[in-house]
Amino acid sequence: MSSTNGSLPGGERSEPPVDVHLAAGDWQATLVDDLRVSLLENPRRVAPVWFYDERGSELFEQITELAEYYPTRAERELLERHAPDLRSLGADTLVELGSGSSEKTSFLLDALHGGGDLGRYVPFDVSEEMLRGAATSVAARYPALDVHGVVGDFHRHLHTLPLDGSTMVAFLGSTIGNLRPEQRASFLTDLYATLEPGDHLLLGVDLVKDPAVLVAAYDDADDVTAEFNRNALRVLNAEVGADFDPDGFDHVATWNADQEWIEMRLRATTAQRVSIPPLETTIGFDVGDDLLTEISAKFRLAPLAAELHSLGWDTIQHWTTEGDTFALVVAGRR
Ligand code: SAH
Ligand code: AVI
Repeated sequence: MSSTNGSLPGGERSEPPVDVHLAAGDWQATLVDDLRVSLLENPRRVAPVWFYDERGSELFEQITELAEYYPTRAERELLERHAPDLRSLGADTLVELGSGSSEKTSFLLDALHGGGDLGRYVPFDVSEEMLRGAATSVAARYPALDVHGVVGDFHRHLHTLPLDGSTMVAFLGSTIGNLRPEQRASFLTDLYATLEPGDHLLLGVDLVKDPAVLVAAYDDADDVTAEFNRNALRVLNAEVGADFDPDGFDHVATWNADQEWIEMRLRATTAQRVSIPPLETTIGFDVGDDLLTEISAKFRLAPLAAELHSLGWDTIQHWTTEGDTFALVVAGRR
């Protein structure tokens, strides 16, 4: 782990401290282990974490502004309206997993730091550039807040969270929907083990709705999502020396009605043999062959509450947008 110090000798504030748990070599080794399994599965897939280098994080920010991509606007509206209701939970530390730009977080910080007990904010993300920029802006905007960033993988590094007092963990944007069901269960179990009784989880979840609305949100007219999707291949090329031709793949977004999730795929438009040097192998793609790059599960509140309950969480409150497009769920760790 490396860490930068947040204060200068004269007490002048510099950049907030950031713990880095993803040294380059360690990160690559994890990704290679993951690929060893996922590229042999049927369908072949890569983990969605591959989207988020600096460019991928910027493309995601552009997605959040698209007319078709309603989740960010819906969640912002809920946070603006209900963040003050979270004050009574008395959190001392706010952790935000997959914090990205931390843009919506200001609603929480205004309510909980401005008018409550909150003293510490811990943004946690795999994307170091994005996290450092966001942590610096939050620290400048809230000078009395102790901002302590963590660069890590929420599947492996939850135990490193620098917690102080009672904790609220925000997992916004419906990023939990990008976890496969078994990953989601082990994530919620790990988080339970990391927290104390009486701590809270604030989950933003996208809800099941008209498939046409959902598919449009993942296949926008300006092809920003298509570029975001292809970015996974650019990251693979850069990180493990693969030689995917990103322009030789079409972006495909479909609704899986049985699983109630969106599937994003890349479909080969040219035959390719792709070399993956650390695996000492090449994989063949014929025209029409798919690579699954992301699932984005959509939720129903009752089954979600039952799932949380079975893993040690009590759902104590939820709010939905008009039209039930998106929900914020507050769960308490038993
Ligand atoms: N919470 C923000 C950003 C959502 S995008 C919002 O609601 O707008 C998803 C974020 O999760 C990205 O910033 C990405 O870098 C991060 N992320 C994805 N997989 C991750 C992982 N395994 N561990 C930590 N962060 C991850
Ligand atoms: C971060 N995550 C919740 C986004 C989603 O909606 O599943 C990622 C995304 N993929 C395509 N568009 C946005």
